This record gives sequence, C-alpha cells and structure tokens, in this order.
Amino acid sequence: GSSAAERQYSAADQQSLAEAAAILAGGGTVAFPTETVYGLGADARNTAAVEAVFAAKGRPSDNPLIVHIARREQLGGLVSDIHPAAAALMDAFWPGPLSLVLPVRPGVLSPRVTAGLDTVAVRMPDHPAALALLERSGCPVAAPSANRSGRPSPTAAAHVMEDLAGYIGGVLDDGPTGVGVESTVVQVQPDGTAVILRPGGITAEQLSAVAGAVAAPPSGEPGGAAQAGGVDAGADSSPAPRSPGMKYTHYAPQGSLSIVSGTSPQRAADTAAALLMEARGRGEKTGLLLFEEHRVLYSDDAADYIVSLGPLAALEEGARSLYSALRYFDEVSADYIIAEACPDSGLGSAIMNRLRKAAGGSVVRTD
Ligand code: TXA
Ligand code: MG
Repeated sequence: GSSAAERQYSAADQQSLAEAAAILAGGGTVAFPTETVYGLGADARNTAAVEAVFAAKGRPSDNPLIVHIARREQLGGLVSDIHPAAAALMDAFWPGPLSLVLPVRPGVLSPRVTAGLDTVAVRMPDHPAALALLERSGCPVAAPSANRSGRPSPTAAAHVMEDLAGYIGGVLDDGPTGVGVESTVVQVQPDGTAVILRPGGITAEQLSAVAGAVAAPPSGEPGGAAQAGGVDAGADSSPAPRSPGMKYTHYAPQGSLSIVSGTSPQRAADTAAALLMEARGRGEKTGLLLFEEHRVLYSDDAADYIVSLGPLAALEEGARSLYSALRYFDEVSADYIIAEACPDSGLGSAIMNRLRKAAGGSVVRTD
C-alpha cells in the first residue's frame, strides 16, 4: 500500500515498517512509537498475542488495553454505540492523544483486551509511523505503554529495550516521542459529560471547549482529586475504579520520591533543600526535579543530581521530559528524590498525576 502516511518513508524505513507489520499480522508483539509514548502492540483480536503483551510487561490481567486504529471507519467494527459528544471529541482530537472508552461490540476483540469489561478504550495516534504500521498490519492493535509494569513509560526506543529486550518481537525506532505523557482517557456519560479517567496529552480545558461538561473521576476513586495527598489504598478498600489502571503504583523510580508543594516557591524550595540536606546526612545520593524558573532558589549543590523539567510557563517541555528524568534518577542510583509540584491544570494535571503516582502519594505541603 502507499497511504499518505507511508509515502514519506525511505526504503530502509519501509523495510522496518513491513517487518513490524508482519510481526503484528503473524500474532507477535512489536513496540512502536506514538506521539505520546512507545506502545507494545499486538493484534487485539488474537488472545495469544494479547497474552504475550501482558506477560512481557508483567501487567496485572485486570488492567485493560487501549486499542489503536488508523482510520475512523475501523471504529464501527469494534464498538456498538458512539455518543454524539464522543463523536465530537473524535472530530476535534483524532488523530491525537485522546482515548475514548466506548461500549465494546461483542465477539470481535479478545476478551483479554478489555479485561472482562463491556467497554473498550480506542484511540487514533497522531504519529506517521504508528499510523502507517496500523494501516499495514491490517488489524486493530492493542497497545499499552511499552515498559515493564510499574516503570516509567518509554519515550524512546532505548527505554523499551531497557525494559523489554528479549521479551518482545521487536521495536520500530522512530526517535523520541513528542508529547511524552500518555493519552487522556475519557468516558462520555449518557448525559454527555466527558469524565476524565486519566489526565494526559489533551487537557481538561481543551476537552471542555468541545464537550462542554467535563468531570474528573469521582473523588476517592484512585486517580481522583481526593487521592492527591493520600497513599493509594489499592484495590480492596475502594469501589471498582472506572479506569482499572489508575489503582496501580506506576512510574516509581527505585529511590524514594517525594513531592514538595506550596503557594510560596521560596518556602517550597527551602523545605526541599532542607530535606535533601538531611538525606545527604544519612549518606544518600540525592536528586532534585525542578522547574526552570525556580533554579535560582537553590544552590548549585542542593542535590547530587539536579534535573530541570523546563519552564512552568511551557509545560509541554516538562511533559516531554518527565519520564526520561525519572529513568535518569534510576541510572545514577539516586536514593532520595524531591520533585517540585506544578499547577494542577492544563498539561500540569497529567504531570502532577504521574508525579503523585511515582511518589506513592508522598506529598510535603509547605503551607
Ligand atoms: O498514550 C497512550 O495511551 C499509550 C500509547 C501507547 O497509546 N498507551 C497507554 O496504555 O498508556 P496503558 O495500557 O499504559 O494505559 C491504558 C489506560 C489504563 O489506565 C487502563 O486502565 C485504561 O487506559 N483503560 C483501558 N481500557 C479501559 C476501559 N475499557 N475502561 C476504562 N479504562 C480503560
Ligand atoms: Mg502504561
């Protein structure tokens, strides 16, 4: 085939694409780039292939996968109903970092994809290599982030190999991803309210400009606002979360990570510096994750490793570099890491959601 997405590829790229597509069509697993993070793909209709994805990741089987499509026409074969508000969101944000949870059409997808739910999350990635691969494979592709379960999501092919080399059929390398945090997962309620099950690359503000009513997950639900300062209680003590993945600890670096937040950047920085100094006193290797505007609030040796997420005024950069920053702290074996908080709005909602999970709920408030 020679779709628009494919025509920009060189012969070598075409060869890699063809190989990756053949792996998917043959029931294997292959990692591929999207605009958010690298995904680990498998034919969503093939239970053995989908089981290989869960096995490679070490992913709990009750956490369903997102199905990726190249064309809107594929949707009708996978879902049984599309609310007009969901259709409006697709019109506005596909291809792009938005996954929509829709009623699944029975008997098409492997039941392992949906983890027994009667819904399926679907998205159309905004990435030429991903679209070309999806088109060529000829199948709906189930793809979670291509990391070992619990590790930061991969924003480069090297991250995929760090976690999954030897466990997967291959990786289609097309450089680092752009958005850097995963897609926003949304479920439209019968009344048309768009419920954000996982904040991500499309912001609440963008959604409400199209859908009108937008809601965060009910408070008390893992991933919900009320969980912000608390430790995730896990599966047993809370009602069934509507996005099963949100109950798991994710992205956790090997060292201990705490978030420092407060309305006064100076006071937050002073608290962070004191905590880092204490950790040093215990003989620990320390890391500091800060925003560029606040660098002047710290001394150059406030921590052994200081990483900037870029300016608060342009959180796209922070989203893009968050996961590689978390992986970096592992590489240098940081024992104790402090992360600055950012405002919980716009892309900041996705960044704070991931930081809170990485911190296991450990948030130090300075006001
Ligand atoms: O950007 C992304 O979404 C990336 C790239 C590869 O597309 N994929 C990704 O997949 O982040 P994963 O498996 O790491 O996260 C999928 C999230 C989980 O929180 C899961 O619980 C939720 O989507 N999810 C999947 N199907 C669902 C469903 N039917 N209802 C509610 N939540 C669902
Ligand atoms: Mg993931």
